[in-house]
Amino acid sequence: MIETLCIQGGTRLRGEVSVSGGKNAAVAIIPAAVLADSPSTIENLPDIDDVYCLRDMLKWLGADVEFKDGVMYIDPRGITKDNPPVDLVSKMRASYYLVPVLLGRLGSANVPMPGGCNIGKRPIDYTIKGLTSLGVDVDLAGDVISARVTDNFKGTEIFLDFPSVGATINTMLAAVCAEGNTTIHNAAREPHIVDTANFLSSMGAWVKGAGTDVIRIRGGRPLHGSNYAVIPDQIETGTLMIAAAATHGDVTIHGAIPTHMESLTAKLLEMGVHVTDSDDLIRVRSEGILRPISVKTQVYPGFPTDLQQPMTAMLATVAGESSVNETVFESRFKYVEELKRMGADIDVDNRIARIHGVKRLTASSITATDLRAGAAMIVASLIAEGESSIRGIHYILRGYERIDEKLRLLGADVRRRLVDENMFPNV
Ligand code: EPZ
Repeated sequence: MIETLCIQGGTRLRGEVSVSGGKNAAVAIIPAAVLADSPSTIENLPDIDDVYCLRDMLKWLGADVEFKDGVMYIDPRGITKDNPPVDLVSKMRASYYLVPVLLGRLGSANVPMPGGCNIGKRPIDYTIKGLTSLGVDVDLAGDVISARVTDNFKGTEIFLDFPSVGATINTMLAAVCAEGNTTIHNAAREPHIVDTANFLSSMGAWVKGAGTDVIRIRGGRPLHGSNYAVIPDQIETGTLMIAAAATHGDVTIHGAIPTHMESLTAKLLEMGVHVTDSDDLIRVRSEGILRPISVKTQVYPGFPTDLQQPMTAMLATVAGESSVNETVFESRFKYVEELKRMGADIDVDNRIARIHGVKRLTASSITATDLRAGAAMIVASLIAEGESSIRGIHYILRGYERIDEKLRLLGADVRRRLVDENMFPNV
């Protein structure tokens, strides 16, 4: 028997819901706390598996860590080990944020290659290039990132070949430890980059320009612990907005940052969905016929690749032809096969999905092959006729806090249930 999420489709989502703290901000800010010479308290953390995994890694390294009710206390002063265990590291991509912070704390890091969602090749060459430019010696033998600072560990000019989120965060974390000035050109601009920079500043670091494509850092300052609250989750907010629109619902999302959602809001408005916002509220109302659209994923402030999947699921029943072009990851359409088994008419050619809207999707036993594929399965199940069972919910729980409870709050019929694995076809 395996645990699944069972969703009876056909309910219009209605009501009010709060967004949780941002996963991709949390997984960068928690490691950053390792750089301080005193404890930090980080608030508004989502209660998700990736946060538990980081807590366990920091404890294993020797930190004193407690996590309760969305608040993590981290005292990094006991950290003596530089080699987090492969069984934890392999669970998530962000594990490699431990490399620069262990370098800053201990002068060396031995971190196994990170895991993460299987959405295409996920090389780490830009991070290696950034660290090497700062004077770090890096060796990748045996699938372990073995790094140590050299006498040349100092600030420099770094040009990223692509505004990679991971490379920007790793380079920023290393640069605050290296004496002298670093400039990161072609930096990623995602909200979690800004949040990480703000946390570092609250610890005493000098970091300017985060949120633009040039980040300037004056490194080598002593960093102290800080009390900080992470931003709301941009992708959870977007997933809830899409679920509201797809079910022709009327949902108000509390605790969001509307400016982070502009690219999605623009697409929803183009489809004929009503979206209004004020302060930290976003209301999504959808009635009548929705229009097909073209979407192209891009780095921030473009349309996020992490919302591509739930958006495609919504477009499956929008009459006419929509297209979705995935430009960030080369293999992020695997979940389309599952949508097709529910009756969706979608052709994928390389990085472009052409979606011919069908009248309805039919409930099925479907598999979440990664985190955001899971979000697509949820949206598809919410609009399908009948009861769907989604397996692979451990992926979903990596990134969505209490998603079943939140959907129930909005009127959806969602339950966790143990079912026989044989009811699922092989994927
Ligand atoms: C972050 O991944 C997020 N993860 C991803 O969210 C998100 O999809 C992605 O950014 C893009 O927004 C975290 O923040 C933990 P990248 P990351 O480095 O840092 C290529 C989710 O669902 N590249 O910006 O791994 C890479 O192959 C997850 O929450 C290199 O070629 O993304 C990709 O095509 C999934 N060499 C592109 O750049 C490198 O050294 C963007 O990757 C690094 C990246």
